[in-house]
Amino acid sequence: MNTFALKPQRKARFILPGILIITGMMLVNAVAQTAPTNQAPTYLRDIQPIFMGNCSSCHNQQSRFVYNWLDYKTAYSDRWEIRRRIWDSWKGDYYKEAMPIANSPESQALTKEQRTIVRDWVDSGAVCGVAPANDGFKTKSERIELGRRLFGSICAACHQPSGQGRPNVFPPLAGSDFLNADKNRAIKIIIHGRQGEVIVNGAKFNQNMPAFPLNDQDIANVLTFVYNSFGNSGLEVTPEEVKTARSQPQDLSAPAVPAAKSAFE
Ligand code: HEC
Ligand code: HEC
Repeated sequence: MNTFALKPQRKARFILPGILIITGMMLVNAVAQTAPTNQAPTYLRDIQPIFMGNCSSCHNQQSRFVYNWLDYKTAYSDRWEIRRRIWDSWKGDYYKEAMPIANSPESQALTKEQRTIVRDWVDSGAVCGVAPANDGFKTKSERIELGRRLFGSICAACHQPSGQGRPNVFPPLAGSDFLNADKNRAIKIIIHGRQGEVIVNGAKFNQNMPAFPLNDQDIANVLTFVYNSFGNSGLEVTPEEVKTARSQPQDLSAPAVPAAKSAFE
């Protein structure tokens, strides 16, 4: 799947002198575990990221009226209906309304490639598989690269590949005063999701971001990527910081506007 593949020019960047060989080897290892293979897709490696980005605003663990596709058992039990909605309906030979449904730009962003991956997953027995091994020390540049792929498969469906978001629906991450003002708060948003009013760069949003089943490394990687892209502040987020944030209460009562002015205002 493309989002997990390193582009040739990215590969070239890693060959730049100055990067320790050991670092390169760790990276190759990590890439090998997530790179496209001709093996059948698995839930934890290929399917759950698609559901997180494209379906989870409605199908999540908090929702009580629709199935939670972030749970393997639920997705497995309903796999044929999932296949029909995102493949057969789309191809025009299934009578029920196709997913993506109206009013959800993120599920409409489902690509042909993603539909094919879901179809192949169901056809090949819908195995759970194992999440890509993702532990051990990572340098900041490794975090950025791993985070770039997570961003592409999960966050970009809503916040857009450019990080600009969508007016009134998804707030921008690009140059976001809200994001750059408080790193710990940003970590908690990925852990718990976020509902309610938020003002980002002067624009008001009031929507729902679901919580994602991502581990400490993943959250550290994706946020380090975001902080080092789109004109943001360049901060690094470590798995230790995510771990600490997990033990703290969710910022339910925190003001939805930055408490202090950031360097970006
Ligand atoms: C904007 C909210 C929303 C999004 C996003 C969304 N769905 Fe749904 N989905 C619903 C609602 C509401 C229903 C129940 C109504 C229906 O069956 O059409 C539903 C029903 C379904 C069903 C039928 C379940 C059953 O067995 O009855 C499937 C399958 C499904 N969704 C798959 C998906 C997939 C896959 C995605 C992501 C590509 C997705 N949906 C994205 C709201 C959403
Ligand atoms: C299903 C759509 C969706 C996905 C996927 C999603 N978000 Fe969000 N995100 C939102 C919405 C909607 C809000 C605003 C929530 C509110 O109104 O309180 C938000 C708010 C935020 C905020 C705080 C506001 C800002 O713009 O600075 C951050 C930071 C953020 N998201 C980061 C991420 C990251 C990183 C990912 C990927 C791991 C991600 N989001 C995935 C929908 C999404």
